[in-house]
Amino acid sequence: MTTTPAITFREVVLDDDFSGILDLYRAHNWTHARSPERLKVAIAASSFAVVAVTGDGTVIGFARAMSDEAFAVYIADILVAPEWQRRGIGRRITRTLLDRYPLDTFHHQVLIAEPGAEGFYRRLGMAPVSLYGLTAFIRTQDRPD
Ligand SMILES: CC(C)(COP(=O)(O)OP(=O)(O)OC[C@H]1O[C@@H](n2cnc3c(N)ncnc32)[C@H](O)[C@@H]1OP(=O)(O)O)[C@@H](O)C(=O)NCCC(=O)NCCS
Repeated sequence: MTTTPAITFREVVLDDDFSGILDLYRAHNWTHARSPERLKVAIAASSFAVVAVTGDGTVIGFARAMSDEAFAVYIADILVAPEWQRRGIGRRITRTLLDRYPLDTFHHQVLIAEPGAEGFYRRLGMAPVSLYGLTAFIRTQDRPD
C-alpha cells in the first residue's frame, strides 16, 4: 500500500502479523487478548485488516473492517501502540479502511467509539449518528450503570 519513512501501512498477513497484533490488544488491555484463538478467527474472517509496521517488522498499529462489499461497512478495533500515538498513525490506518469502502458506493461507514476516542473520529470527518436524526441501538453483555 503506502509508506512513510520507516513505517509501512499494508494489509495483514495473519501468520506473520498475528503475534504483533495480539501484543497491541494486550498493551491496551482489551478483552480480546484473553482469547487469542478467537481473535485469530475474528481477524481471518474480517473483510479487510490493516497493520502499520516499523522497518524492523514491529506491529505498531492495527484496524479491521467487516463489510458486505456492496452497501455497508463496520470498522472495528483501531489500535495504535501507546508509544506511537499522536503521530498520525491512527489517521493513516483509518483512512486506509475508509478509502477501501468509498461513500460514492457505500451508504455509510459505521463504528462504535470507545470513551475518549470521539475527538479522534471527529478529526477523521466522522459524526455521531444523532447528527443525522438517527439512533444507534446495541445489545451487549455489559450492563449500563
Ligand atoms: C484512538 C487512537 C487509535 C488514535 O491513534 P493516533 O495514532 O494517536 O491518532 P493520530 O495521531 O492519527 O491522530 C489524528 C488526529 O486525531 C487527534 N486525536 C488522536 N487521538 C485523539 C483523542 N483521543 N481525542 C481527540 N483527538 C485525538 C490527533 O490530535 C490528530 O489531530 P489533528 O488532525 O489535529 O492532527 C489511539 O489513541 C489508540 O490506539 N487508542 C487506544 C485504543 C482505542 O481507544 N481505539 C479506538 C477504539 S474505538
